[in-house]
Amino acid sequence: MTKSVRVDLQERSYSIWIGTGQWEENLQRCLDSLESLQHAFLIWDEHLDSLREAFTDRLASRSIRVQGYRVASGEGSKSVASLSSIWEAMLAARMDRKSVVIAIGGGVVGDLAGFAAATYMRGVRFFQVPTTLLAMVDSSVGGKTGINLPQSKNAIGAFWQPHAVLIDTTVLQSLPEREFRSGIAEIVKYGVILDPELFQWIEQNVAPILSRESQAMEKLIQRSCELKAQVVSSDERETTGLRAVLNYGHTFGHAIEAITTYGKYLHGEAISIGMTMAGWLAAEHNLWPRESWERQTQLLKRLELPTRCEPGMDCEAILSAMQSDKKNEHGVLTLILPVKIGEVRSVKHMGADEVRRAIEAFL
Ligand SMILES: NC(=O)c1ccc[n+]([C@@H]2O[C@H](COP(=O)([O-])OP(=O)(O)OC[C@H]3O[C@@H](n4cnc5c(N)ncnc54)[C@H](O)[C@@H]3O)[C@@H](O)[C@H]2O)c1
Ligand SMILES: [Zn+2]
Repeated sequence: MTKSVRVDLQERSYSIWIGTGQWEENLQRCLDSLESLQHAFLIWDEHLDSLREAFTDRLASRSIRVQGYRVASGEGSKSVASLSSIWEAMLAARMDRKSVVIAIGGGVVGDLAGFAAATYMRGVRFFQVPTTLLAMVDSSVGGKTGINLPQSKNAIGAFWQPHAVLIDTTVLQSLPEREFRSGIAEIVKYGVILDPELFQWIEQNVAPILSRESQAMEKLIQRSCELKAQVVSSDERETTGLRAVLNYGHTFGHAIEAITTYGKYLHGEAISIGMTMAGWLAAEHNLWPRESWERQTQLLKRLELPTRCEPGMDCEAILSAMQSDKKNEHGVLTLILPVKIGEVRSVKHMGADEVRRAIEAFL
């Protein structure tokens, strides 16, 4: 049975369709949300050639003209150069404002294709077919699109909501192990920040989760999308501060990714270490019971996620990267810290020495 999540954003509201082996019916549901569609422009990750072929066939059988652009796998494709090639290809394909962009891939393709859709002819419709767990539970919800500059990740971008999101758990079977676990880290994050029941459910279902059983995947994806959708609905453009709860573990984690030049840890792995550090800091300051921090650490370990840095990392470099995090307000280090499983708080009073201790404890 297809599950769906409604993302409530007034006239920009849309549905996320979640199924297992239900491509045909869920594609139809996405197409139903688009009026007078005659032309689709697919932007797909090179590792998803077969899915792109299946989409081409399904769209062509509905008399929709299909063209597209193949994106090289990896973060390097979120660049001005690939964006410019996509714009050129869109123009050559005679895309107009009635065409739709369909993004097939992980967060890289979703962000890049979404930004291409946001900017081509001042914005065309698009929908997402996320194929990594991270993209399913995080990057395809919320409307953030964009590319990197060589010196700054996600520096250029726009908020541009999709018309629909089509998720099918069957694609997860081919996802490399580390990529899969990296997505799980974000799901654990949702549990800690917003949903104690989700957290407990993960604790009780580690085996089916790690073996990617479709029912477990559907449940985790649906609940994660619901939670992210609620947060996004309350703060679509990150202006009220409510969306900041999603940054739990991310100030530490982004710093770890940055000082290792995005080469050593996948995003979710860095977030797993970041949540461990942030949770420890909260426990040290009696904001969070120590048992809760231990529960979180145990769960991350059972999910085969890292909970400390590999030897050789420089504490001062991590601290200084945290202090220049672009989410800090007026240069004040802002941390999201848990107060119980399912609830976090924004904390601005932690001094450098306290944060340094939290980093050092996990080096
Ligand atoms: N827009 C947002 O709100 C948001 C949120 C979080 C992350 N992001 C962005 O998402 C990006 C990371 O996304 P990601 O983790 O999905 O990485 P990714 O898109 O690079 O995909 C990871 C790897 O998996 C491969 N792949 C994808 N689907 C596959 C499948 N089904 N089978 C086999 N291989 C597959 C890709 O080719 C790639 O090598 C970053 O650029 C990050 O900035 C955006
Ligand atoms: Zn994240």
